[in-house]
Amino acid sequence: MNRPNKKKAHLLGFIQNGVNSHATGMWRHPKDKVGWHFASIEYWQHMARTMERGLFDAVFIADELAPYNTHEDSSDAVVKWAVQCPTHEPSTIVPIIAGATRHLGVGVTLSSAFEHPYSMCRRLSSLDHLSNGRIAWNIVSSYSKSEWDAYGHTMTERGGRYERLEEYMEVCYKLWDSWEPDAIVADKASGIYADPDKVHVVHHEGKYYRCHGRHFCAPSPQGRPVLWQAGSSDRGRDFAAKHAEAIFAVHPNVERMKQYTGDLNERLATRFNRSPGSVKLIYGLQTVVAETRSEAQDKHERIKACIPPEGAMAWISGHFGLDFSKYSPDDVVQNIEVPGIQGLFESIIYAKGGAPVTVKEAAMIYAQGMGMPVAVGTPADIADQMEHYMDDGGADGFMLIATYTPGCFEEFTDLVVPELQRRGRFRDRYAGTTLREHLLEN
Ligand SMILES: Cc1cc2nc3c(=O)[nH]c(=O)nc-3n(C[C@H](O)[C@H](O)[C@H](O)COP(=O)(O)O)c2cc1C
Repeated sequence: MNRPNKKKAHLLGFIQNGVNSHATGMWRHPKDKVGWHFASIEYWQHMARTMERGLFDAVFIADELAPYNTHEDSSDAVVKWAVQCPTHEPSTIVPIIAGATRHLGVGVTLSSAFEHPYSMCRRLSSLDHLSNGRIAWNIVSSYSKSEWDAYGHTMTERGGRYERLEEYMEVCYKLWDSWEPDAIVADKASGIYADPDKVHVVHHEGKYYRCHGRHFCAPSPQGRPVLWQAGSSDRGRDFAAKHAEAIFAVHPNVERMKQYTGDLNERLATRFNRSPGSVKLIYGLQTVVAETRSEAQDKHERIKACIPPEGAMAWISGHFGLDFSKYSPDDVVQNIEVPGIQGLFESIIYAKGGAPVTVKEAAMIYAQGMGMPVAVGTPADIADQMEHYMDDGGADGFMLIATYTPGCFEEFTDLVVPELQRRGRFRDRYAGTTLREHLLEN
């Protein structure tokens, strides 16, 4: 049935440039990367073409800058169990993905912590040109101690990181906006390429950054990349509401999604003079689809059986910035304060609707898919769940967390996408060419 008045889903494939993304232990699943090597060009071309065949808005390449080292004060378990390790540099695969596709957007996670805004802007503008306007930047500032250790710095606290990030963005906007639209003359007869009066020199002297110079790139198709953010603390939500065009969050159930949607829309309207609903709210979802429910259940069990318990502990220790090996497996996480990603920790706290969750349970839930809701069933079951999250939770779309790759995205594309289209809840074709156009559709 076609329901034209209901909003259509935006879809992102959530993955990393590594042997294993966010679902721990998937590298050992019998269907993972059969015939593919994760670091090969062919693998990324195929992944990109699969997502474009499924008319996804974009691939979302997550990243962190170094292996976590919080668990037992070491990265041993992370290395041993392939907990997001090895992970290769994310922007290196962007031109490969862009070159293999014509419409698919590419969201790339790049940290502001150890890179000057000048080179960040130059890199992102260059990628926006190469992709003909299909780049998004997932803005992060490095929440993990291991990243600061690897770069030889002492980690700063959350408030300080956001203050610095505010100034970072100020410099980025100055650079991206410094070329006027008609600055390039390209008049071969006179030899004048660009009008210097229309290419403004940026002068920035701030608390954290100094920048004096012109942006080195011509204005890119989107002007600046689409800005993505996933801050989940109070300060992080304000940052996202101020700057982002799409915001990512993980909530284990529809009530939590609804609360978050209300909170974000309120911040947009009352603090930042942006209209509620103008920023796309994208929620995490893990799907396990099959032709029949029992087949899907079997698949789900097979996925869970791949999770290594010690690797799961190492991952929660890394993401939440606390050594969980120091707690008893039966301690209740609701009684523990974490310095790491607060919003993701809440996905664990509410994983059982607010009932106590032990450390052991938390590790296994999180290792399966970051505390995202898991939709297990037939294409119709999964589409029902997605519709519920859109209609009752305020989701504008979903970041689909990878299980085994590229198979999970092939299955979603072949089985779930047609079901969503039949219901009028997903596009039948790309309407625009740039990523911003895809995201602004409906
Ligand atoms: C869904 C989701 C995905 C995220 N992906 C990344 C990532 O790939 N790399 C990263 O460094 N941080 C990532 N983060 C962390 C946040 O962007 C943010 O830096 C972190 O949550 C700390 O800010 P907060 O305390 O305001 O939440 C992610 C957070 C969420 C909720």
